[in-house]
Amino acid sequence: MAGISLARVDGEGVDKLPSDLYIGLHNAQDQDTSDLEDNSLSAKMEIEKREFCNLVRPDLGNYSAAANLAQNEHIRQLLKEGKKVYHFGFGQAPFPLLHCAAEGLREHAEETAYLATQGIAELRKGISRFHSRHDDLDIDPDNIVVAPGSKELIFLLMSIFNGDILILSPAWTTYQPQSVLTHHRHFLIDSCAQRGWRVTPEAIEKVVNENDLKQNRLMIMCNPDNPTGVCYTKAQLHRISEVCRKHNIIVLSDEIYARTKFDGKHESIGKFYPEGTIISTGLSKWASAGGWRLGYHIFPPELKSLRDAVKSAATHSYSCAPAPIQYAAAKMFNHTEHCDDYISHTRRIYEAVAEHTYTELTSIGVKCVKPEGSFYMFPDFEILRPALNRRGIRTGAQMCAALLDEVAVTVFHAR
Ligand SMILES: Cc1ncc(COP(=O)(O)O)c(C=O)c1O
Repeated sequence: MAGISLARVDGEGVDKLPSDLYIGLHNAQDQDTSDLEDNSLSAKMEIEKREFCNLVRPDLGNYSAAANLAQNEHIRQLLKEGKKVYHFGFGQAPFPLLHCAAEGLREHAEETAYLATQGIAELRKGISRFHSRHDDLDIDPDNIVVAPGSKELIFLLMSIFNGDILILSPAWTTYQPQSVLTHHRHFLIDSCAQRGWRVTPEAIEKVVNENDLKQNRLMIMCNPDNPTGVCYTKAQLHRISEVCRKHNIIVLSDEIYARTKFDGKHESIGKFYPEGTIISTGLSKWASAGGWRLGYHIFPPELKSLRDAVKSAATHSYSCAPAPIQYAAAKMFNHTEHCDDYISHTRRIYEAVAEHTYTELTSIGVKCVKPEGSFYMFPDFEILRPALNRRGIRTGAQMCAALLDEVAVTVFHAR
């Protein structure tokens, strides 16, 4: 067997070689081509006959795709067919890209090399300055790890973490499935509408005291929150940090919506619990660049062991975030004024939309905690239950399906 890379360093690619040569080099040393053709044909027939069983881990059960992404694909198809759909079921920023970012991407379209896994230094320096300006955080660029999306980094962090996962509930659709994928036990910490969907220190203590948790705990909190749109105050974050410190809980603070906070005054738990907070964020939301796939984690020096393990896992999984995107993002972060203008205008629009939706829904008796940031709200349609029941609609899923069928509105139901 010879594992030979056919993509030559001088740029001549696989497509320049005859296909039998390609197969031959990988499969056989001393065979002539006719043997090879016979073998590959019979191997193909063999494969067609075989049945594959139990290939998916049994603990994944009916493991399904992220419901938000699946639904978004469905809606895109409907739109492609020319149907009109009012799409409120997917967290995608609607604005055009910043001009300087688009320009940067054009300039760097021909950057094709693999880059340092952690991310290029110019980008990490830009990120550090950005958070110093907006969050008053002092970040050593060496403690930043860049990736193709923060979702990937959350997954890697969970993959290497030795302990239990705590998830605030309700939660973004991805945290729980990722904890299952990475073989972790996870524990939900409930919040409720009466307390504005914010988790309390008491609720955290309760979960810690009532469960035989492992020594290390990673709590994922989203602020501003998906799916409720609520944000935490300084005082609340201060109290949560005290409980986390007391119970050896590391916080993964998902701040991907930080720059959408309507009043522009986002508070990071990293200010109150610097030694135990990993901040997760990126360009997807504030810069309207979800498809660019650029996210990053910011580690405190005290969690160097986690940072290094995530970096190693990154070398074995994604290698680096796309090169042209990294250079373009670095350029964008240098255009401080453009970024800040963009942030202040887009968040005014998010606020106006949230205000309008909140006013309309609550004026007909739907209950809702008023969002303060992100793109979401979490309304309770209990008032409609009798009328819906009369039509045979008994679950949130049925209600959402009826909304789409009858009035072309997509929203997402809670479980
Ligand atoms: C709460 C939350 N965290 C993380 C992400 C993913 O961000 P990224 O695009 O950086 O992977 C999303 C995207 O929908 C999200 O809503």
